[in-house]
Amino acid sequence: MFQILEIDIIDTKYKYFKSPWIFSNQVKHLDDKLLNPEKICLVRLKGTKKIGIYNKTSLISIRLLPDCIMDKVENNSISSEAFIEQLSVYIKKLQIEKNTFAFADKEAYRLSHGDNDGLPALAIDDYKSVLVLQSSAAVGDFLLPYVVEALKRVSDLPIFERSTGQIRKLEQLPERTRWIEKPKTDSSFDISCFFAHLTMSFSLNKAQKTGLFLDQRNNLKYLAELLKTYNIKKSLDICSYAGAWSAIAARSGVSDLTLIDQDAWALQLAQKNVEQNALHTPLIRTLHGDMFEHLQNLNKSTEKFDLIIADPPAFAKAKKNVAEAKRAYTKMTRLAHNLLNENGILVVCSCSRHIEDQDFLESVSLGLSAQNWVLLHKGEQSPCHTRLATPDSSEYLKCYFIKKRVL
Ligand SMILES: C[S@@+](CC[C@H](N)C(=O)[O-])C[C@H]1O[C@@H](n2cnc3c(N)ncnc32)[C@H](O)[C@@H]1O
Repeated sequence: MFQILEIDIIDTKYKYFKSPWIFSNQVKHLDDKLLNPEKICLVRLKGTKKIGIYNKTSLISIRLLPDCIMDKVENNSISSEAFIEQLSVYIKKLQIEKNTFAFADKEAYRLSHGDNDGLPALAIDDYKSVLVLQSSAAVGDFLLPYVVEALKRVSDLPIFERSTGQIRKLEQLPERTRWIEKPKTDSSFDISCFFAHLTMSFSLNKAQKTGLFLDQRNNLKYLAELLKTYNIKKSLDICSYAGAWSAIAARSGVSDLTLIDQDAWALQLAQKNVEQNALHTPLIRTLHGDMFEHLQNLNKSTEKFDLIIADPPAFAKAKKNVAEAKRAYTKMTRLAHNLLNENGILVVCSCSRHIEDQDFLESVSLGLSAQNWVLLHKGEQSPCHTRLATPDSSEYLKCYFIKKRVL
């Protein structure tokens, strides 16, 4: 049984019904005496029917839950069973909504993109043979067991948790990589799924994030379309991870592929993914180590590429890193674009949510030498990584396709 405490918003300008987050300085905080030792509980915003999870110790103090939870609240409380039932009804609707984005049959997708999908701090990726959950905050850990019970009511799939990464460290939360609901037969960590025209493999216990970067779906598909009209033989994939971009290239007939990543396991995996998707037997070279060092070495040679993709990690992990991150995007672009053949294609990505689109484009353009660069397309995160229609923007992935035009 959850008691639901009433909480007051002191920032009168705050449009809480449009943002899923309410910050610490916008809230009249609850007395410690009312709270458990973790200082996390369910709350209702005073004068509204909005229910959220309150965390007194976090900068984001309230993270809103789906409106349907309120339907089962009686006398300022809701039973655990009713809470789980409402979550399962909600997740079922989320599944239907996400599938309106016309993914191919049995294609992996993001079922819940955290707060933007009403399940605070919880990402859930559906790889069709397994659901992978990632909790990024204490509030996610609080919600997780109830979401797991709700998922079991709407899906027969095994459930794996990969709660890892930088954001958990900020809240001093331990990493967790474990089966929550084991497969009935084979509990191997090796997963194979269908995604963006590709058959992609990864291992649950060694992967980054939940396994694959499903947010690049439409950008990968755009590249596949683009390659139908370009004569691309040789590609360079900077920060390849599991090789999705190179696999698209290989599937489109690119036969000479170089991949750079600092994660040795990812490069092995990438080799497998490229081979299993290639149209012809490709020549694959993997360069393990720092991207900037490898790019500098390649710049010292005469080697050129027809296609270069640079998909680095978020250079700005926080607002204070923005200036430094912009310089890194400029440096990356400068080193990469020198390696491109005439009429070659450069794809540059940023997954830093703290870098605004215009700032990213400016950083990229500062790294381009001459004026013969044409913008072919701007891509963004797959729609299953839900964006809200708010100006503070939940857009984080920016992906520019640029051509070195020589007429
Ligand atoms: C955003 S992920 C790449 C996603 C990948 N392109 C895909 O679509 O699946 C960033 C990758 O950069 C790698 N990485 C991070 N810092 C690096 C560095 N300094 N040099 C080389 N690789 C790096 C990480 O290991 C990770 O695989």
